[in-house]
Parts: sequence; structure tokens; C-alpha cells
Amino acid sequence: MGLGFLGIRQRRAWITRLGVLPECRCDGIGGLIVNNLCHTAIKIGAKEIWLEMIVGNAPAQKLFSRKGFVRKKTLVVANRSSSLQEDYGTASPTTEIESIKRDRILRLLEGRTGQPNWRIDSETYHKLLNLHGFAIERADGSQGWICFNLSNHRLDHVFFDTIQGDPAIVAKALLREIISRHPDKDVSLENIDADHPLCNEFSELGFHVAFKRVEMVKALGDARTGEHATH
Ligand SMILES: CC(C)(COP(=O)(O)OP(=O)(O)OC[C@H]1O[C@@H](n2cnc3c(N)ncnc32)[C@H](O)[C@@H]1OP(=O)(O)O)[C@@H](O)C(=O)NCCC(=O)NCCS
Repeated sequence: MGLGFLGIRQRRAWITRLGVLPECRCDGIGGLIVNNLCHTAIKIGAKEIWLEMIVGNAPAQKLFSRKGFVRKKTLVVANRSSSLQEDYGTASPTTEIESIKRDRILRLLEGRTGQPNWRIDSETYHKLLNLHGFAIERADGSQGWICFNLSNHRLDHVFFDTIQGDPAIVAKALLREIISRHPDKDVSLENIDADHPLCNEFSELGFHVAFKRVEMVKALGDARTGEHATH
């Protein structure tokens, strides 16, 4: 009648692929699956449980709010097709570009502040076999770096960060550079924070917003004390 998956990484758990057959919905089954996944996560020792739902999914929103999940942020998924074949130039002729080796990329990812979304957290990148990255420094002193996984047809797991300067300008320079280096690949930007100023300027580089997700989290109780944060 329904299913849901639980991912676990150290003290962090996440729910994915929750679904109930249409004819069985609105009868509490989704709620039972969520309860069960939360209890399993507690038993395994997770301290919090995360999930994402597409903006506007009213039944999911109602269910997760009822189960105590709270909104963290809105995330944007945007894609760019290689068929566009438009030339946006490189980062800029006066920009210094330095390739970053895998080890340093992983160290940079681990040094991020805050809690990255689970799809782009450091452990995910350790599993990627074709990880590339480079850092730029623009003539105005602004700096940033980017990494991505290079697969047959596309660049995915793209993560970029600004070290100094305007985040929209730095992000656009980084993306312009990867587009010029890999004109034959689609580029997938997954789970960019909707507050990132780049999100207002995606179309300048040929990206279109595919959809938005809401990231939600719930603190979990401790199985040993019998405190279960599910209801
Ligand atoms: C989301 C989903 C798993 C919920 O399953 P379910 O078995 O219906 O869940 P429950 O019966 O426990 O709860 C559903 C809640 O949504 C509410 N609901 C149903 N349709 C609704 C609608 N159109 N607008 C607002 N609320 C709605 C129900 O009233 C219920 O809330 P309540 O118990 O407070 O009254 C199910 O709708 C589904 O499979 N959807 C498609 C896949 C999906 O979106 N998965 C979530 C991915 S994040």
C-alpha cells in the first residue's frame, strides 16, 4: 500500500521516496510509515531526521507538519541543456584559474560551515569517482571555487562557494567557466539555497528552474530514555 526509505549517515537520517498508493491515501498510512521510519532512526542512534518535499505538495506538507517536521529552507533545482550551444565566454580573460585536486576538494567540502543539504554533504562526494574542481580569483579580488562530478552526458553534484566578493558574480564566473570547458554536457544544479542571489539570474546562463523543494527537519528523541519524538 505504501513505502518509504530511510538513509542514515552517522547521527543524521533522512526519509526519501515516501509514497502511498492513490486509492489508499488519507487513511493514515503515510503517517504510520513516517512514524516507523522515525522510530528506526532513533534506534540506530540518529539525532535528527531530514526530508525534502516539492513546494506545493499539500498532503505531504500536512503530513510532515503533523509529524513535527519544521521547514529549514527552500532549495532550487535548475538545469541547463548542452543543446543551447550559446557562448557565454569564459570566467573572464583577467581571471586567474587554478585546478583543485580531489584531496583538496574534499578538504574544502569538509570545511564548510553550517549543515549542507544531505545530497551535497561531504560523504556523498567521497563516493564520486570523477570529481573535478577549480578556484578562481577575479581582477577585482573576488574569489570562489567550484566542484562537480563529470559523467558521460552531464555535470552533476555541482557545488560552488564564494570566498570573497559578490556571490552572484562569483557564481556566474564559475559556472560560465564550466560551461565553456564542457559545452557538450548538460549541467544540473541541485538544491541551491533559494536565498542565493544567483537564483534571480539563472536565465543569464541558460539555466531554467525545474522545481523547488522545501527542506524539513525533526529532532529525534533518545531510544535509551524511551523518549520518542514521534506522535
Ligand atoms: C504524501 C503521501 C505519502 C501521504 O500519504 P497518506 O497515506 O495519505 O498520509 P496520511 O493519511 O497519514 O496523511 C495525509 C494528510 O494529508 C491531508 N491531505 C490529503 N489531501 C490533501 C490536499 N489536497 N490538501 C491538503 N491536505 C491534504 C490529509 O487530510 C491528511 O492530513 P490529516 O491526517 O491531518 O487529515 C501521499 O499523498 C502520497 O503518496 N503522495 C504522492 C507521493 C508524495 O508526494 N510523497 C511525498 C514525497 S516528499
